[in-house]
Amino acid sequence: MLSRRAFLRLALGATTTLALSPFLRRTHVSNRSQAQGVTPDLDINLTAGTDSVQILPSGAATTVWRYTATLNSGDAAKVETLPNSYLGPIIRMNQGERIRVTFANQLPGTEETSVHWHGLHVPDDMDGHPRYVIAPGETYLYEFPIINRAGSYWFHPHPHGRTGPQVYQGLAGLFIVHDPEEQAAGLPSGKYDLPLVIQDRTFDANNQLVYQNSTDGFFGDTILVNGIPNATLAVEADWYRLRLYNGSNARIYKLAWSDGTPLTVIGSDGGLLEYPVTYPYVTLAPAERVEVLVDFGRWSGQTITLRSLEFTGATPGGQNNTTLPNGAAFDVLSFTVAPRATPTPTANTTFLPFVTRANTPLSTIERYSLDDAINASSPRTFYLYRTFGTWTINGRTFELTAVANDENVQLNTLEVWEFISDVPNGAMGTNNSAHPMHIHGPLFQVLERIPPTDATQRANWETVKDGYVDDGWKDTILLMPGERVRLLIKFHDYTGLYLYHCHLLEHEDRGMMRNYRVS
Ligand code: C2O
Ligand code: CU
Ligand code: CU
Repeated sequence: MLSRRAFLRLALGATTTLALSPFLRRTHVSNRSQAQGVTPDLDINLTAGTDSVQILPSGAATTVWRYTATLNSGDAAKVETLPNSYLGPIIRMNQGERIRVTFANQLPGTEETSVHWHGLHVPDDMDGHPRYVIAPGETYLYEFPIINRAGSYWFHPHPHGRTGPQVYQGLAGLFIVHDPEEQAAGLPSGKYDLPLVIQDRTFDANNQLVYQNSTDGFFGDTILVNGIPNATLAVEADWYRLRLYNGSNARIYKLAWSDGTPLTVIGSDGGLLEYPVTYPYVTLAPAERVEVLVDFGRWSGQTITLRSLEFTGATPGGQNNTTLPNGAAFDVLSFTVAPRATPTPTANTTFLPFVTRANTPLSTIERYSLDDAINASSPRTFYLYRTFGTWTINGRTFELTAVANDENVQLNTLEVWEFISDVPNGAMGTNNSAHPMHIHGPLFQVLERIPPTDATQRANWETVKDGYVDDGWKDTILLMPGERVRLLIKFHDYTGLYLYHCHLLEHEDRGMMRNYRVS
C-alpha cells in the first residue's frame, strides 16, 4: 500500500513539476550552488522525516525516520521505492548524467542532518560534510555530475555525533550507477538484479526501535534485509546479480551459502571486478558492498539460505553484551527457488559468454602502480587506537574544519596510505576493535595487507581473512585488530575538504573521523 502510494506520487510528479515542491516556497534554501542554465537529468525533492512502517509481522507499526522522494523532472524509473520498507528510495543514474536533489530536513526537534553520497566522488560542498548540516525546517540543494563508474553506492546522514542514531532510525537509501561497459557485460538485469541491504535492529515490546549508544558499537538482535526481518525471497531457477550492502552501524557479516557452495564475486564497492573471483565466504564490514553472481538453478525447487558464519576478535566488550554478538552465526536471508522451467530458461542468459569463456573480462580496471606514488618509500600512516577513553586516528579526534599538517595532499598525485590497527610506539592505548575505514572523495585500490603479529590477534584474523574482497575499486576497508592495510589513492577531479573515518558509526560519532585537504 505504502509503495503503491509512493509510486503514484512519483508518477504524478512527472507531469506536475512545480506544484509538488511546496517546501521550496515555504522554507529557504541554505545554499545556492545550483548551476544556472544546466538542466539536470534527474531533479528530485528528498525529505528526511518521521514515518510509521509495519516492520514486524504482528503488533504495532514502528516509528522510523526515512527518506522519501518526489520527482520534479526526469525519468520516473530513476527513482524506485522499496515496498514495505523504511529504507529510502533507490536512485538509478548513468555515468555522465547530472542530478539535482532539493533536500528538506523535516526531522523532529533540533535534529540537524546532511546527506552524504557514499562512494560517489562529488564536490566537497555536495558531500554532506558535517560543516554543512541542515537545521530542521531548512533545505539544501545538492547538485553534481555522476563521474563514478557503474557501481552500488548509497546515501545516508553525516552530522557529527548523530550519524549512528540517524542511520539506525532508518535514514539510508541506495544509489546505483550504470555505465556502457557494465551494460555490455550482459549481467542479469531488471528483476534479476537484486539490491539487498543487511542491517541489524533491536525492537522493544511495543515494536519500537531500541538504540544503545555503546563505545564498542551497536549490535541488534534482529537481522533485516531491505528492512524486512526473517526475510524470505521467492526466486526463479535462474541467474541473478545480488548487490549485497552492509548497512549496519557496527556489525560485520561473514556471508556464505548454507550448503557450502562458494560465492562468485563480480563486484566490490566501486563496481565490477576485472574477472569473477570465487570465495568460500565474504567478509562484509559496515558500509562495504559486494556483488555476487548466482545461478539459483542449482537449487531448483529447494530453499537456499545466505548465512553469516562465526568469527572472533572483532569487538571488545560488546562481544558479549548482546543476545546476538558480533561474530555469532545466524541466517541472513532465505531464497525459495521455483522448480526449473522446461525447457531451460533462455531469457536471462545473455551474459553466459563470460561465464563459459574464462578469459572474457567483466570490466577493465586501470591498475595503480606503487612506482607512481609520490610517497612510495614512506607511506602516510594512520594509527587506529583507543586512548584516553575514545577511539582515535593518530591520537586525534574530529574537528569540524581543522586539517593537521600530515592531512594535506595535492590534486592529481598518487599516494600510499597505510592504516595500522595498533598503538604507535611510545603511546598509551588499546587496539582491540575492528575498524572499517572509509575515505571520502576518490576510490582507492588495495596494495597489500600485513597480518597481525600478536598470536591471538593473528588467530582472530584467520577467521575472517579469506573473505576479504580487496579487488577492484574500494571506498571502505576492514582492519582487524593488529592488522595493517596499504592502499593506493589518487586525488583527482576536486580540491577541498574531505573526510576519512571509521564507518563503525559509534566510533565515527565519538570522533574517529578527520578531515584531509586536497589542494
Ligand atoms: Cu558512508 Cu563518511 O560515510
Ligand atoms: Cu562516504
Ligand atoms: Cu572504528
